[in-house]
Amino acid sequence: MFGKKKNKPQIDQEQLQLIQNAQRRIKQKKRFYSHVIVFAIFGLILYTFNVGLGLADEFTLATLPWSIVIIAFWFILLFWHFLNVFLFQTFMGKDWEQKQLEKLVNKQQERIEKLKENLKNEAPHIAKSQIFNENLALKKQNLTIIVAAGENNAIGKDNKLIWHLRDDLKRFKALTSGHYIIMGRKTFESFPKPLPNRTHVVISRQENYQAPEGVLVVNSIEKAIEIAKTDLQPFIIGGGEIYKQAMHLADKIEITRVHEEFEADTFFPEIDTKIWKKTNDTYHVKDENHDYEFSFLTYERK
Ligand SMILES: NC(=O)c1ccc[n+]([C@@H]2O[C@H](COP(=O)([O-])OP(=O)(O)OC[C@H]3O[C@@H](n4cnc5c(N)ncnc54)[C@H](OP(=O)(O)O)[C@@H]3O)[C@@H](O)[C@H]2O)c1
Repeated sequence: MFGKKKNKPQIDQEQLQLIQNAQRRIKQKKRFYSHVIVFAIFGLILYTFNVGLGLADEFTLATLPWSIVIIAFWFILLFWHFLNVFLFQTFMGKDWEQKQLEKLVNKQQERIEKLKENLKNEAPHIAKSQIFNENLALKKQNLTIIVAAGENNAIGKDNKLIWHLRDDLKRFKALTSGHYIIMGRKTFESFPKPLPNRTHVVISRQENYQAPEGVLVVNSIEKAIEIAKTDLQPFIIGGGEIYKQAMHLADKIEITRVHEEFEADTFFPEIDTKIWKKTNDTYHVKDENHDYEFSFLTYERK
């Protein structure tokens, strides 16, 4: 008596409607099947009395006994009933269909509103990224070859460098830090470990070449350049095979010319001065840290 008010079980209106529709449908079918049974029994009785027992057999229509005429007419009604139940009746009735349609339209409208809202929020980001890409396109990428080569273009022997020039290594580090460095698989393997603060892109024809985490592996020089497209100055750092293929793609060459001839198995290609113009030439003496004289030369495509 003084207890809490009992919560009435809540039935979803939509579910309720579904149940009612199902019940209505069952009733419709039941009525049809009863009709079939009544038709079969009475049809048989009429036929038996009329044709079997000769009841009022003088009544005919176009020579057909009266019972056959009645059965035929009734059959037409039965067929009409059948069509009504199984064909003309839409499954849930007109009201239900209308409601479903309205619901669908409302849902679509909600989605459109949401999309509009999202677009409004994202528009500034899209515009920003477009501006970024356009700026990138305007500021031309400067694909730069960096190399140290002897007077005879020697660059390496037995997959190793031929010299150790401290200031050249320092310059290499200063120029390439923070950038993509693109290299052949053999050059990559000549390093004891990946160089810090640079994104390594290794070119190899091997399908499953395993490189340490963070090192990108591609199978052509074009793909290497593509992968580095967000960098305004990616560097091609060797070795001989890759330099050869990159010469016609590069915009700039930073070459440390070591003023000596060396025995080697890997060479840098000849720099064609019809294509390249020298824009910097800085001489470095031979001293206790440097076994050879050398010069930092910069070439730019004419
Ligand atoms: N002095 C310098 O400034 C300098 C700089 C860098 C290197 N080096 C020296 O250069 C030497 C190494 O040069 P290297 O010519 O022997 O080798 P590399 O150019 O470093 O690497 C060659 C490898 O790159 C891959 N490769 C080349 N072209 C390719 C293509 N078109 N598509 C896919 N993969 C391709 C192949 O790898 P797979 O075999 O895996 O398919 C090929 O074996 C070493 O002695 C090194 O010390 C000198």
